[in-house]
Amino acid sequence: MNEQPRASFGGKLSVILVAAGSAIGLGALWRFPYIAGKHGGAAFLLVFLLSVLVVGIPVMLAEFAVGRHTKKNAVGAFRALSKRWSWLGYSGVLGALLISGYYYLIAGWSLEYFISSVTGDMFSSTLSYKEQFDLFQASWKPLLCGILFILMTHFIVSRGVEKGIEKASKIMMPALLIILIIMAVRVAFMPGASEGYSFFLSCDFAEAFKAETIMMAMGQAFFSLSVGMGCMVTYASYFKQNNNMVSTSFNVSILTLFVSVLAGLVIFPAVFSAGLQPTEGPSLVFVTLPEIFKGMPLAAVWSAIFFLLVILASLTSTISFHEVLTAYFAEEFGLCRKKAAFVTTMISIVLSSVTFFSLFGIDFFNMFDYITANILMPLGGMFTCIMVVWFMKKGFMKDELTNYGKCNRWFAPVVIFMLRYITPLLILYIFIKNFI
Ligand code: PFF
Repeated sequence: MNEQPRASFGGKLSVILVAAGSAIGLGALWRFPYIAGKHGGAAFLLVFLLSVLVVGIPVMLAEFAVGRHTKKNAVGAFRALSKRWSWLGYSGVLGALLISGYYYLIAGWSLEYFISSVTGDMFSSTLSYKEQFDLFQASWKPLLCGILFILMTHFIVSRGVEKGIEKASKIMMPALLIILIIMAVRVAFMPGASEGYSFFLSCDFAEAFKAETIMMAMGQAFFSLSVGMGCMVTYASYFKQNNNMVSTSFNVSILTLFVSVLAGLVIFPAVFSAGLQPTEGPSLVFVTLPEIFKGMPLAAVWSAIFFLLVILASLTSTISFHEVLTAYFAEEFGLCRKKAAFVTTMISIVLSSVTFFSLFGIDFFNMFDYITANILMPLGGMFTCIMVVWFMKKGFMKDELTNYGKCNRWFAPVVIFMLRYITPLLILYIFIKNFI
């Protein structure tokens, strides 16, 4: 076993930026707009907001408690609390593996788009953006870019928790917010933008009550907040003991919602302005945005800035699930950090290749995404709630939420009530309803 003293994140702001860095990523910038586009825009946003409040925040708090209390990797943390529940840690590790199988590939798309903006290739081609996207997909480039992204992640994670993860998040997160706000203002002046706002902001309630919309919105809340698969357990293991978990979870959730809404406010006006469809699917961001940039002065600069933003946001997320695996290999197998990071990186390259080549004719891309966001994370989250309030020693959650009576004294009972009854039952209900 590793006998070195355990690393920890610095002050309050660092903790928020690092956790928000994990949360805000392709989920907010790429997944949210295209799923919202398919499920009625504002209707989806509304259900997503409710899911964050009623499901996401309580699960995040449960994970923070498990991680900070035990100061161990996901598997070690659940095992330390109760041997019977260590499978929850393994389910987190499995989730991190599945996400590694496709997330890097999409993050790699933004790398390619950034490079072709900088070189000017994107705007000098005579092909349409859809054709360019399809051509890119049919080449080896997505795999190469995905592997490059894995190596960038490896570089940061292997530098360690403070010098790598914390430092990177502290620079990248503020940069991301600034760039996104500038983009949102720019898009507002485009012709036809208003149609995009009305699509994104007017609510069709019939759509909001559909079982599928609710299931997708809940999945999005899990995916976007990085909860239900041991990631926040691992990060919380680096929190200082006096961190106010309740305020951290609210700050992280508000920032995630803010960025998701901003992404919608950038993308939908842009989509309508270019006469495109919001239901385009996973390629939405990659096909529609260049179309917008094209008509703008300094097209290549805007486009490079936007894709740089996607790269930064993705990187702070990839380091978080890389860390779930790195911490697991380091602590459970007694490897040094560099070796553990190396093992994780190799596995990530293999999994991304399997997805890229669609081995055995299977669409791993959609399969991994669906299994993690809609099955593994909700179930992982549900059982984590059940464990912390029903199977731990009495007062476990209360002590953790209040820092042993020092803060959140009136709020802790509300969270505990939600964890006991509302959150797990709601997850179960939505889950069953969707499958029936
Ligand atoms: N929350 C990240 C995003 O929205 O892009 C994705 C993610 C990161 C999910 C880490 C799960 C995780 F453990």
